Amino acid sequence: MNLLEELRGRFAAALRALGEDDARWLEQVVPAKDPRFGHYQANMAMPLAGKLGRPPREVAQQIVHHLQVDDLCQEPEVAGPGFINLRLRPEFVVAQLQRLKTDPRLGVPRVSKPRTVVLDYSSPNVAKPMHVGHIRSTVIGDCLYRVHKFLGHHVIGDNHIGDWGTQFGMILYGYKHFLDADHYRQNPVEELARLYRLVNRLVSYRQQQEELPRLRQQQGELRGRLAQLESQTEATEDPKQRKKLRRQLQRLQAQLQELHQQIADTEAAIAQVEADPQLAELARQHPDIAQRVLEETAKLHAGDEENRRLWREFMPACLEALERIYRRLGVQFDVTLGESFYQDRLAPVVEQLLELGVAQESEGAVCVFLPEESAPLIVRKKDGAFLYATTDLATLQYRMERWAPDAVLYVVDHRQSLHFRQLFATARLWAKRVQERDPENPLTKLLDCELTHVSFGTILGSDGKPFRTRAGDTVGLESLLDEAVEHALRIVSRNDDAKPTGPELSPEQRRRVAEAVGIGAIKYADLSHHRTSDYVFSFEKMMSTTGNTATYMQYAYARIRSILRRGGVDVEALRSSEDPLLLESEQEHRLALALLRFPEAVAEVLVDYRPNLLTNYLFEELATHFTAFYEQCPVLKAPSDPLRRSRLVLCDLTARVIQKGLELLGIQTVEQM
Ligand code: ARG
Repeated sequence: MNLLEELRGRFAAALRALGEDDARWLEQVVPAKDPRFGHYQANMAMPLAGKLGRPPREVAQQIVHHLQVDDLCQEPEVAGPGFINLRLRPEFVVAQLQRLKTDPRLGVPRVSKPRTVVLDYSSPNVAKPMHVGHIRSTVIGDCLYRVHKFLGHHVIGDNHIGDWGTQFGMILYGYKHFLDADHYRQNPVEELARLYRLVNRLVSYRQQQEELPRLRQQQGELRGRLAQLESQTEATEDPKQRKKLRRQLQRLQAQLQELHQQIADTEAAIAQVEADPQLAELARQHPDIAQRVLEETAKLHAGDEENRRLWREFMPACLEALERIYRRLGVQFDVTLGESFYQDRLAPVVEQLLELGVAQESEGAVCVFLPEESAPLIVRKKDGAFLYATTDLATLQYRMERWAPDAVLYVVDHRQSLHFRQLFATARLWAKRVQERDPENPLTKLLDCELTHVSFGTILGSDGKPFRTRAGDTVGLESLLDEAVEHALRIVSRNDDAKPTGPELSPEQRRRVAEAVGIGAIKYADLSHHRTSDYVFSFEKMMSTTGNTATYMQYAYARIRSILRRGGVDVEALRSSEDPLLLESEQEHRLALALLRFPEAVAEVLVDYRPNLLTNYLFEELATHFTAFYEQCPVLKAPSDPLRRSRLVLCDLTARVIQKGLELLGIQTVEQM
């Protein structure tokens, strides 16, 4: 049972009896901050009193009068200005725990109204090496997928890979001019990645060369304006006016500073290429590379036979490289429909947008002008090329036709927020126009479909800049995983060596544990941060055995399992026994309550798509109360046999909730560490 939801349901009934049915009041039923005041509290009496123009305590009394919670709680108390405090009945808590013992879902109910949800996550651009930036979408998306599924929603995991974009122009050009055939035979993905990087570098070099004079000219102009403003400021008598001009001066100076930096960066990048004789030579031999790369992409899109053939040749190896990483991460998708899948739909989408008046031609391009955005959404370029946005519109149309979902969630980094705002607004406009003509069209379902950009922040290095793997690594993400596992192996070995009765794990077992610990650490570190904040990537931190980490939770799990082993406990018998649960101490009681709150934590994840609410629960609530319990309440050496058995049940439940919780985060547990 989800207790919070149950209580909210009871309050809903009480409020209805008072003629109030605004669901917002129910958000005011929350877990109590301070256990001295009970387990849950309801705070709606105060704002409701404001609305009704009556004293808050009186309103609280009235709510309590209509509230039916006798089966769950002791007599509710009205406190202070009008808080309603609720304390669960001990016999209710015990009865609930008894049920958990044999419940594989650990009390988590399935939702009463399952939704159909398309979850778009991971979605890397193939043929470019996958790097650390791809972790977040993959890991957050996978967690949301698991939680949706567990709660009984119909969820479709769709890996919308970028397999049709401009990077293929680079690879095609690279293949035709710079291929190392031996390397390609041995390791095609690595060779394609090398070609991509090489061509990308040469293209950037050209662009930077073109950019530099423009930047310098800007700098000159800015300097001129600055000098003018300076003399103007000096000549001004009026102090108010002077202040205003000074502020303008400061702004200009800051702009100039930024431009300086940009010029310095550009010069450095150019110099780097020129300092490398081989690169410099290639740059000289391929002066029009930027243009030629665009042409290769255009040819691919237009159906050029050779480019299509090469594309088909590249894809299997690229997909296999991705698959290898997903296998290792334990991540699965229901479908992998990349950008290429939608190529035939793009032209008709643009035609339709034009015909319906959603899009307009503007300077040769086709654009959607949205009143709330300053920049238009471009769906066809002047040269006829379609864009990322065009594909996303076609994809949405396809998703509506195939699944008619209640929600489409995009787990994509925050830099794409403008894109998604424009995409959603355009899609809604499109659906509305379609509805006017053809109300049965599947696209109209979009009008009551939730579209959410589940945005996330950046992973930073210790220098506070976006995290990069060491230069020279070909497949960033894979070598990062290897490094994590190596790090974990050192920790696991050190710990095993230090065991009082000697090491317990074979080298093979250590490897397996290290894989779970290393990968789990990366995932947990990511999921435990608020998804919209940036965080610093650090192996030390993420594998600390004392903080809010996967390693800590995995240890807690293994420790409990070892207690059960040492006690020679028959776990199945323990779970099916009718032995009474004895919650005598404060610590046992608190742990019991923490166990009962697991369903709330799981459900909370989907409210705002925040996995960190689950990690918070596991660490701050469950693990904390378990530690307090374990310190105060001997288990194997409990003073009586019934108490020993009761405490073993608490241990077993804690281990199971940790295991299930980690599983929902996509993290493995091990029996021994
Ligand atoms: N491939 C894109 C990138 O790497 C992300 C795609 C996200 N999904 C989408 N439907 N736009 O930036």
